[in-house]
Amino acid sequence: MKLSRVCGSREKNGVSLYEREAAAETVPVRKNALTAIIAEEKSHQFVPEDIIKFVAKPGFRAGNAEFSHTEKILPLIGPKNSSEGKGCVMDNFIFKNPTEILFGKGMIAEIKNRIPGDRRVLFLYGGGSVKRNGVYEQVKSALRGRKVVEFSGIEPNPLFETCLKAVSAVKKNRINFILAAGGGSVLDAGKFIAAAALFRGNDPWAILKEQGANVTGAIPVGAVLTLPATGSESNGNSVISKAATSEKLHFYSPFIYPVFSVLDPETTFSLPSKFVRNGIVDAFIHVMEQYLTYPARAPLQDRFAEAILQTLVDVGPLTLRKPGDYEARAAFMWAATLALNSLIGCGVPQDWSTHMIGHEITAFYGLDHAETLAIILPGVWEQKFASKKKKLEQYAGRVWGAAGAHEAVRKTEEFFHSLHMPTRFSDYGISAEEAARKVRDRFRERGYVCGEHGDIGPEAAAKILRSRA
Ligand SMILES: [Fe+2]
Repeated sequence: MKLSRVCGSREKNGVSLYEREAAAETVPVRKNALTAIIAEEKSHQFVPEDIIKFVAKPGFRAGNAEFSHTEKILPLIGPKNSSEGKGCVMDNFIFKNPTEILFGKGMIAEIKNRIPGDRRVLFLYGGGSVKRNGVYEQVKSALRGRKVVEFSGIEPNPLFETCLKAVSAVKKNRINFILAAGGGSVLDAGKFIAAAALFRGNDPWAILKEQGANVTGAIPVGAVLTLPATGSESNGNSVISKAATSEKLHFYSPFIYPVFSVLDPETTFSLPSKFVRNGIVDAFIHVMEQYLTYPARAPLQDRFAEAILQTLVDVGPLTLRKPGDYEARAAFMWAATLALNSLIGCGVPQDWSTHMIGHEITAFYGLDHAETLAIILPGVWEQKFASKKKKLEQYAGRVWGAAGAHEAVRKTEEFFHSLHMPTRFSDYGISAEEAARKVRDRFRERGYVCGEHGDIGPEAAAKILRSRA
C-alpha cells in the first residue's frame, strides 16, 4: 500500500520544499508560515490539496508553528481544485522503481545469482507455510554456502514487538542481507527490520511515527512473494502494528525497496482461498485509491488502472475457483504488483482514505486488512459521491460496460460478494456506531485527514463508518 504521497512532500533539487521551509525557521507565526508555504507551492503550480495533506501530519513544523489539527488550517488554504477537473493537470512526478522482478516458475533458484556469496543472510518468514509450499527448501538450496540465520513467526499484521526481536538477531549475527519469504506482512516486517537495524534513534517506533522521514539507511532486502496482495514486493512502503497500544502505522522510505523480488505463481497454489480473496480485494482497492478520485488529465494512468481492474475482475473469480490454473494465478500475481508499484499513481491525485480508516478497524477489531477495505470503500464513494461522480461514471463504463455512477458502486459490491467478501459491519457482528466513535477519536488524536481533497477528517470518517452498518 502506498501512503507516501498522502502525507509526503514535494522535492525540488532533491530537497523537500516543506523540510526546507521547516528548517529555515524564518517564519515565526502559524499563518505566516502557511502563507509562505502556499505561496511557494503556487509559484511551482503544485496543487493545494497536497499542502492540506502535508500540514495534516501530526507534529509537522513550519517555522515555529506546529500543526496537529487540519481543521484549523483548512480555512487558510483557499479554494480547492475543482472536482469537475477544470484547471487540473497531470502533476509533476518522479518515478523510480529499483526493484528487480524475477517472475515465473522456478525463479527462486535465481536468488543464488543475486545475493553475493559473502553475505550474512537473515531468512525471515511467518508461521511456517513456506515449509508446506516448497519455498523453504528452494530458498535454502539457493542460499547454500552462505551464512544463514533463520527468524520465523512474523504475524499477519506484523508486530513491532516481534520485529524488535529480529532486529536483535540482526545485530547479534552481524546480518547484512535480509531475505523475506511470505506475504506482504513478512515483507513489510523485513523492510522495517532492515531500517530499524540501522536506525540511530533510541526507539525504532519513531520510524512509524515519522512515517519514515527519519530513516537514513537500511540493510538490503530481497523478497520471495507467496501471497499476491499488498504490492510490498515492489515498493518502499511498510505497515507495522504495535500490540501494546493497538496502533497500526505505515512508513515510506526509498531505502527499503526490495533489491529483487521473486514472484513464482506456483508457490501460491496452496494458499487458503480466504487469502486469495483478500489479495484480490486489496489489490483492487490499491488501484481505486489512485484512480477513483477526479479527472486529472492523465489518460495513460487511467488506462493502466482500468486494465488492472479489468484483469482482476476477469481472473479473480477464476483463480479462486481453480487455484492450480497457472495462467490465471500469474495474471493475478502480476496485477497485484502493478497495482502498487507507483506506476499508476504517477502525477495523479490519490485518495487512501479507505486504507487510513481500514487500518484503524484492523487495529481495534482484528478484521483482515482486505475485509476492512471492502466495508469502507463503498461508504467512501457514497459519502463523496458528488466529487467522485465523474470518475465513477468513467469506471462504470470502461470496466463494467455499465452506465452511471450508482451502477459503479453496485457492481463493485457485487464483485466483492462474488469473491465471498462481505461488505457490511453486521456481517462480522460489529457495531458500526461504536467503530465510528473509536475511529473518530483516533483520527482526532492524530490530527488525521485524508482523501484526494483532504476533506475526510474525524467526523467524515465516522459518517462513512456509520453508513456501513
Ligand atoms: Fe492494502
